[in-house]
Amino acid sequence: MFELIIKRSNLPSYLIMDKREHQLLIDVKDLTWWYEDSPYLLFDKFNFALYSGDFTIIMWKSGCGKSALVKLLLWEKRPPARSIYHKREDLSRYSDEEIQYFRRKIWIIFQDYKLITSLNVKDNITYPLRIYNLWDMVIEDKFKTIIDELKIDYLINHPVKYLSWWEKQKVCMARALIHDPEFIIADEPTWNLDREYTQQIWDMLININRVWNTVLLITHDVHLLNYIKSKYQVNIFQMC
Ligand SMILES: Nc1ncnc2c1ncn2[C@@H]1O[C@H](COP(=O)(O)OP(=O)(O)O)[C@@H](O)[C@H]1O
Ligand SMILES: [Mg+2]
Repeated sequence: MFELIIKRSNLPSYLIMDKREHQLLIDVKDLTWWYEDSPYLLFDKFNFALYSGDFTIIMWKSGCGKSALVKLLLWEKRPPARSIYHKREDLSRYSDEEIQYFRRKIWIIFQDYKLITSLNVKDNITYPLRIYNLWDMVIEDKFKTIIDELKIDYLINHPVKYLSWWEKQKVCMARALIHDPEFIIADEPTWNLDREYTQQIWDMLININRVWNTVLLITHDVHLLNYIKSKYQVNIFQMC
């Protein structure tokens, strides 16, 4: 038997985490990097760690390299050797196959939805699993758990093009969660939204972390940082 801990005291039993799973997911060690055609050194011996189960915020001003960091994590830009580790493996040494596999473990919450407008809500949420040929029974089971939790069962047959802004955001969250990602990256998830909606998204990110998943929030928004800090336990990397 593994030794179990309850990460947060009010969780139902199915969310009890295995202690071994509260592990180092991403470790950035002395990362030094810049765009080749740019005069700015974006990272100068930058260090950062992301642990499973945590809510971690990277808070930098615009132009400081937040999206560049996401690109390095996703291997859209090749990370330098011995500077970014995934579960203690050097990311720069991953083969093409390993990178594909690793990318599947991360889910990005896009600000601009990236939903497939010709499909209904259910198909939008389940298509990542269908791509990987999961059994229908497994897909249905995951789907039901997630729509119950996000309270969007009334929407499942609606074409996404008819949904309100807020409903679309919830569908995006469901699509991220059904993918069972190792962690979720939200890169400026609310940068151009009304206050009212913004706060709802912030609350939803907290809920995602509380109930499901590791969250890495990347933002320049000091209001967002202060709001989440006041309500929830987070790790903050602030610089630049
Ligand atoms: N493809 C690129 N080539 C060169 N410079 C870039 C490129 N993309 C972004 N930059 C520059 O790198 C810096 C960091 O950009 P970015 O990571 O997008 O910042 P942030 O997400 O923190 O606002 C900015 O000065 C930006 O102009
Ligand atoms: Mg950015």
